[in-house]
Amino acid sequence: MKEKIGIEGISLEDIEGMRNIVDTAYRRTMERYDKGELGFMEVIQKDCECYRLSDRYKEFKYILVVGMGGSILGTQMVYEGVKGVYANELNSKKVFFLDNSDPELLYSILKIVALRETLVFVVSKSGNTVETLANFFILREKMKKEGCREDNVVIISSGGLLKEIGKRENYKIFEIPENVVGRFSVLSSVGLVPLSCMGVDIGKLISGARDMDKLCRREDVFNNPALMNALIHYMFLNRGKSISVIMPYIERLYRFDLWYRQLWAESLGKDGKGQTPVAALGAKDQHSQLQLYLDGPKDKIITFIKVRKFKEDFTIRYKGHYLDGCNLSQLINFQQLGTERVLTSMGVPNISIVLEDLDEYTLGKLIYMYEMTTAFMGEMMEVNAFNQPAVEEGKKITRELLEGKGKGEEVVKDYIIKI
Ligand code: PA5
Repeated sequence: MKEKIGIEGISLEDIEGMRNIVDTAYRRTMERYDKGELGFMEVIQKDCECYRLSDRYKEFKYILVVGMGGSILGTQMVYEGVKGVYANELNSKKVFFLDNSDPELLYSILKIVALRETLVFVVSKSGNTVETLANFFILREKMKKEGCREDNVVIISSGGLLKEIGKRENYKIFEIPENVVGRFSVLSSVGLVPLSCMGVDIGKLISGARDMDKLCRREDVFNNPALMNALIHYMFLNRGKSISVIMPYIERLYRFDLWYRQLWAESLGKDGKGQTPVAALGAKDQHSQLQLYLDGPKDKIITFIKVRKFKEDFTIRYKGHYLDGCNLSQLINFQQLGTERVLTSMGVPNISIVLEDLDEYTLGKLIYMYEMTTAFMGEMMEVNAFNQPAVEEGKKITRELLEGKGKGEEVVKDYIIKI
């Protein structure tokens, strides 16, 4: 490895020099909110009771959420963030997420669940997303054959074919407000309705988001964590850090990485601009990605997320060994510290977010901080963080191909490797 090259940090003067950009980003974000464009800031003020289903929906043994992108990633992130990666093995309620048009995925889920005992949430804001509709159509046919009732299905949507079917077939329907964009929708009906059936305390989640909202409304960048987070990322983007790595040191936050990846990429990647989000996980990626982060191109900014108190812990015993008496939680947090130190000494900029513990409340805070960070960052970069023209174009092309109107294979056959 090369010699240490010192810290490439940001000074107070650097931040002072950005005053105009910060103030403008803050003002524009709040103006958009005042105009009613930022529904994700409004929904957290709603009473959580409106998202709860009646008791008869509690009896289902299985829950299956069907959706794509912003309509499902957040729900899965919160579920795993609260319940853990082996929740299905440990709990009597089994929860599945179906967010691909991969037939093997659907097959495996159908092998496990009994449809009559399954509560299916079909989530799509547009109500027309092809993967969601395709999976739903297949499920619907099977559910009819197995004699499922209308209570088996809950629709969460703001329109399209999905809502039409919902009304026609008398399914329970929850609205998604028009001004809530997919990837910013986890704290709306999109996430809260299914999560409330999965044993997640949605009240605590929202209370964390509301407390973070108070901090994110402060004009002073030094007292506003989202504004500061956006500013740091913006300044390093301008210094050539085109990749933003997020690296929690707790398994339960790996889905948070995937949610963040979508939020950052789809919101900010436009007009030739953007910062590529990368999902990493400590301590595992110290044995894979870290080599590149330390010794590869200096094009990254790293964010560590660490948790002080784990729900469970173990003490290691082996007389004479340096691990003797150490807790696993201490080990993983030392590993984070070591990585932070070595990255800093090699001149790789990094930020640490420290959670006291990881529960619904702290997760609600973290989610909302990232939503606000993304909104501020969009204004700093002068891109509209709340549209996704390229994603919409992709959806249109898929539809044209399916309707036989597309140009067919020749458009993708630049180079094919057959295995
Ligand atoms: O963030 C977004 O807008 C997208 O990721 C959408 O959530 C995704 O494409 C699914 O769209 P819909 O909810 O309309 O099915």
